[in-house]
Amino acid sequence: MTVYLNGQYLPIGEARVSVLDRGFIYGDGVYELIPVYQREPYRLPQHLVRLQRSLDGIRLANPCRDEQWEAIIREVIARQPFDDQGVYLQVTRGAAKRDHAFPPDAVPTVFMMSNPLPVLTREQIEGGVPVVTAADERWLHCDLKTISLLGNVLARQLAVDRGAVETVLFRDGYLTEASASNVLIVNRGRIVAPPKDNLILPGITYDATLELARDGGLPFEIRPVTRQEALAADEMWLSSSTKEVLAVTTLDGKPFAGGKPGPVYREMYRLFQSSKPRARVPA
Ligand SMILES: Cc1ncc(COP(=O)(O)O)c(C=O)c1O
Repeated sequence: MTVYLNGQYLPIGEARVSVLDRGFIYGDGVYELIPVYQREPYRLPQHLVRLQRSLDGIRLANPCRDEQWEAIIREVIARQPFDDQGVYLQVTRGAAKRDHAFPPDAVPTVFMMSNPLPVLTREQIEGGVPVVTAADERWLHCDLKTISLLGNVLARQLAVDRGAVETVLFRDGYLTEASASNVLIVNRGRIVAPPKDNLILPGITYDATLELARDGGLPFEIRPVTRQEALAADEMWLSSSTKEVLAVTTLDGKPFAGGKPGPVYREMYRLFQSSKPRARVPA
């Protein structure tokens, strides 16, 4: 696999960063994951806006202009042998003598790779997926897409340990998101999405879903969702760049929402597929 590191395209085995890189030492960096359908990045401008927002949030100057990002992203895509990809882009504060305070002269480390986009199976789309629930124990800037992901890693492992695909998180009695997905619910025919505040990542797929709902005439509202409402919802969905939109049909080991994807999900799935550059064929 060919990756990009600080101006060079290299085989992944030859890409090297310093052990003093602040990404390694402090998790001091941000990232993006951009889905690519048939070699065309999906919602690239929106991903670059979010990247800028994350960089601003950690007070790190953007090392590239948008045209430069786009050129590198397209080059990385072109160098892979597969068509549907997930481009992973990471910027850290660079290598410097270990000290918590920002180094005055470090050069940001820019890394990019692209993996095959995970294929969603018919079973996942038509049967839904299992989730577990847990307390959201992360920090108070979950709106920044930082590489400091330990809270998310621990939450995700909990799902894996229990044979589920995601862990849905609650903080102070309210739904936030899942370890690597946003969570939306449907109640009495209305989609309800938690607000994009500091407690959740402003998902590009979350935005895509609500835009599709608006354009497709599906009623929705954005407001806090209590744990009680989420657990009694008619439908619950996960949204992310790699999952698109998936329905939750098992929660904490018990059938949820009738144990099959609901009617609003099925309509959203249809809208989402028709909005993509070209439909991915499920395995
Ligand atoms: C914590 C978290 N929330 C939400 C999302 C969904 O964001 P997007 O739709 O931009 O992939 C992700 C994506 O990886 C995530 O890590």
